[in-house]
Amino acid sequence: MLFLTLVIYLKCFIRVIGGHLLIYLVYFLIFRMPTELFISGKSWMLSLAELTSYFKAREIGFEVQFFSGEFFTLSFERDFDASAIADLGGTIKIGEVKAKFPTETVKEAFLKKNKQAQQQIIESLGSSGLVDGIAKSSEKVLFGVSVYCTENTLRPLSGGIQRFVGSAVKNELADLGKKSNFMGFGKDRRQAQLSHVEVLKKSLVENKAEVLFCIGRTETWAAITVAVHNPFEFQKRDIYKPNQRKIFGMPPRLARIMVNLSACTSGKVLLDPFCGVGTILQEALLEKAMVVGMDVNPWCAKAASENLEWLVREYGLEGADFRVLQGDVDKLVEKIGQEALDCIVCEPDLGPALRQVPTGPYAEKIIQKLEPLYFGFIEKAYATLKPGGHLVLVTPYIKTRSGQAVTMPIDERLGQLGLKRVHAFSKDMFSLSAGGLERLINTSSLVEMDERHIIGREIHVVEK
Ligand SMILES: C[S@@+](CC[C@H](N)C(=O)[O-])C[C@H]1O[C@@H](n2cnc3c(N)ncnc32)[C@H](O)[C@@H]1O
Repeated sequence: MLFLTLVIYLKCFIRVIGGHLLIYLVYFLIFRMPTELFISGKSWMLSLAELTSYFKAREIGFEVQFFSGEFFTLSFERDFDASAIADLGGTIKIGEVKAKFPTETVKEAFLKKNKQAQQQIIESLGSSGLVDGIAKSSEKVLFGVSVYCTENTLRPLSGGIQRFVGSAVKNELADLGKKSNFMGFGKDRRQAQLSHVEVLKKSLVENKAEVLFCIGRTETWAAITVAVHNPFEFQKRDIYKPNQRKIFGMPPRLARIMVNLSACTSGKVLLDPFCGVGTILQEALLEKAMVVGMDVNPWCAKAASENLEWLVREYGLEGADFRVLQGDVDKLVEKIGQEALDCIVCEPDLGPALRQVPTGPYAEKIIQKLEPLYFGFIEKAYATLKPGGHLVLVTPYIKTRSGQAVTMPIDERLGQLGLKRVHAFSKDMFSLSAGGLERLINTSSLVEMDERHIIGREIHVVEK
């Protein structure tokens, strides 16, 4: 009898503990998976592709919960280190999500001016711990609010939303006995957002004092900025390196995005066979890759080498491994060897600088003239890449008077060699709730085009 009672007690005990364990597990899996918010650079698809490649290359498990032209939310299998922003060319800010509510509530609050919905938002922000970090600062604190809005109907109201969130934060801080100043900005500003420079200059990351209020189609997130892009670092590598070339230069931010798209990580061998003054090589060296450059122009080979020496000194890159050769890409296999490279990242000649938008036939002519260089190079790239290695290649994307862009048809050549396109986005990267996937999943190349420019860049990622 005693034995039976003990068994029943034991069973009850296991059931209770087991239940708790299950609840804990569900809580851990659903709620504890850290969710981070990423504010994208101006080419959002390129920014998202860079993020997914960067995490895949480092085997960091993630899922994209939401994406739009302004921001993305990603959840991670383990804690996320926001200092990764220094490795990224296409992310402006990273925020730690503190609260989430239905966008319907935001619409009620600001489109219909519903007091109850406004109160709900104030309460959600209050109970989220959003101001805990700001409140810890010792003196009277300066904080800011930036609103990122995917919803067209709410976008014109973002100034008012920014002031509303600002006063909610200020009141919450006052309740905690903390005096604060809310950072305003001129009414002429098109977006109710602080720039990365303002966030850096006012130390808002250190003080956990920038609130990101990000309105998606069905959900809205409130986050605290935990990392911000440092434009001065990228600028230093652009304009303070000893050798520069104005017309052919690539911005270091784009070079870093391309290096990340190539899945380059520490210890991999990366080549830029059209290295110019070495912008791509610099970014790859910062990723601790073993770097090889080549250029047909002897001045470029010397200039790139000097720039890399400067980078090593400037960033204290002990043990950095690099060499720059002078030579024509025709001789790539002889100079580098067969199957020697993990990654090739490059931008060959993009054609003549155009003063006016060309006609379609003229743009076709430019492309045809460049084809032998590109097609010949793709063959050499195939021979020098290791199996599984990646090629990230820029081809010209020429605007024309008809509005139809003219591009380089490389698919046939890639197919003949057995080089496969790497699609930046696959279904398994996205949560079931992330809508609008169709246009991303079929993306085979990414375009970087400044509105002012006539020739843009089409960026292809392929694998051997
Ligand atoms: C668009 S620029 C690359 C710029 C480079 N990404 C940078 O940031 O400085 C193209 C480079 O390819 C080099 N180039 C052109 N034809 C070449 C060839 N056949 N073999 C090797 N290099 C070549 C040019 O000298 C030029 O420096």
